[in-house]
Amino acid sequence: MNIISPSMLSADFNILGDQLKELEDAGVKWLHIDVMDGIFVPSISFGMPVIKSIRKRSDMFFDVHLMIDRPERYIHEFAESGADLINFHVEATDKVKETIELIRAEGKKVGITIKPGTEASAVEPYLDLVDMVLIMTVEPGFGGQKMIPECLKKATEIRQMCKEKGIEIDVEVDGGINADNIKDALDAGCNVFVAGSAVFKDSITENVKKLAARI
Ligand code: DX5
Ligand code: ZN
Repeated sequence: MNIISPSMLSADFNILGDQLKELEDAGVKWLHIDVMDGIFVPSISFGMPVIKSIRKRSDMFFDVHLMIDRPERYIHEFAESGADLINFHVEATDKVKETIELIRAEGKKVGITIKPGTEASAVEPYLDLVDMVLIMTVEPGFGGQKMIPECLKKATEIRQMCKEKGIEIDVEVDGGINADNIKDALDAGCNVFVAGSAVFKDSITENVKKLAARI
């Protein structure tokens, strides 16, 4: 199934509730929630209290992207605040397997994430333990950057690895996705598409329609 997961980082937080409602009315099922700690990435975004607050009003599937150092420290808190799926970076911890197990123990879906400089082979040992691999096509830390197209080939490599292992998972792409390049990501093997600035500027409804028409 092909899914658009709008990144809340680009929302107007002054009218966040209205914007999330507009997404739901436009048929959006997933919401991508970027958590940044100022250590793993240079910027700081938001954390548990914000997720808890929007969880009360939204039935969307919360696709939480942890850009935090040693994510194993906070799995319980993010699960409790309303995450449906927790993505963490393999570069952020030396306890990848343990972190996967912690997320599973909370009954949540598991995603593992790689930055542009990390090879697809870094996730190979874990493919049969996760629901999704998230491929970053920009350096994590900020919305509104330009996609690095070379990163897309990792989606093809990961699909091939999964095929050889006889497993099926989701492959998500995040960073600089817009109506002009979303089809390239689809063709490379991605099926979950994060879009921040391409959704939350001008008309959210029109932007969602435009992206959905290409996949
Ligand atoms: C970047 C975040 C992305 C970002 C996407 O660190 O992980 O999810 O918000 O925004 P755009 O689509 O504008 O690149
Ligand atoms: Zn993200």
